[in-house]
Amino acid sequence: MPLGSLMQGGPHPDTPGVTIASPRTYELFGAVFFAGRRDRAFTRLAGLSGAGRGDRVLDVGCGTGYLTRRMAAQVGPDGAVTGVDPSPPVLAHARGRKRRPGSAPCTYREGIAEALDLPDASFDTVVTSLMLHHLPEGLRLPALREMRRVLRPGGRLLVAEFRPPNSHLGRLLVHGGTAHAMAHNRVDVLDGLVADAGLEVSGHGDVRPWLYYVQARRAEE
Ligand SMILES: C[S@@+](CC[C@H](N)C(=O)[O-])C[C@H]1O[C@@H](n2cnc3c(N)ncnc32)[C@H](O)[C@@H]1O
Repeated sequence: MPLGSLMQGGPHPDTPGVTIASPRTYELFGAVFFAGRRDRAFTRLAGLSGAGRGDRVLDVGCGTGYLTRRMAAQVGPDGAVTGVDPSPPVLAHARGRKRRPGSAPCTYREGIAEALDLPDASFDTVVTSLMLHHLPEGLRLPALREMRRVLRPGGRLLVAEFRPPNSHLGRLLVHGGTAHAMAHNRVDVLDGLVADAGLEVSGHGDVRPWLYYVQARRAEE
């Protein structure tokens, strides 16, 4: 059994998405997998989101809140950051983390990406990291459409996903350590999926060691 499967939960009543049940194992896995570069990678993602001081931010599939907290630092004390995830244990872990000085408050709530219980146009910036591959393929576009719906016109989206390595050794390591959906993640279709959700793709690239990102905007109306 791949190590990554050890932290997954059983079937969830609200979503067929694969949830994380053990936040401590997830944090350990993240630390080992990013080999000391996790903080730098996710701080870079927060910058790439384009979120400004005072923004209202949503982090979809926030897990333990690793990116959520970095978004809170990015938008500063006048901003507000909401994290949504279906898994109560990861939300409890996120809520237990201290607010950093100079950061926005973070609020965490249970919810699912494919049917966000949040009002239209209520966020300036939406981010999501390593979540889409936890959904069955058929729910990825509905989830991105929901992210568009809750963004205000002119608001920004940042999607970050795991990019499986090209090298033979890298592939062996990833296959041994992660679940199938991660090892076979198709980041080459991500830009098209974001565009199909009605967003304007404005950029994309890699954040080493493992991430591919897409930047997009909801058009002004
Ligand atoms: C690999 S973790 C990523 C967590 C966090 N974004 C990060 O970068 O560390 C994937 C997360 O997606 C969540 N998830 C699974 N199904 C979901 C759904 N339908 N809607 C939102 N999140 C979901 C899981 O519970 C888990 O916390």
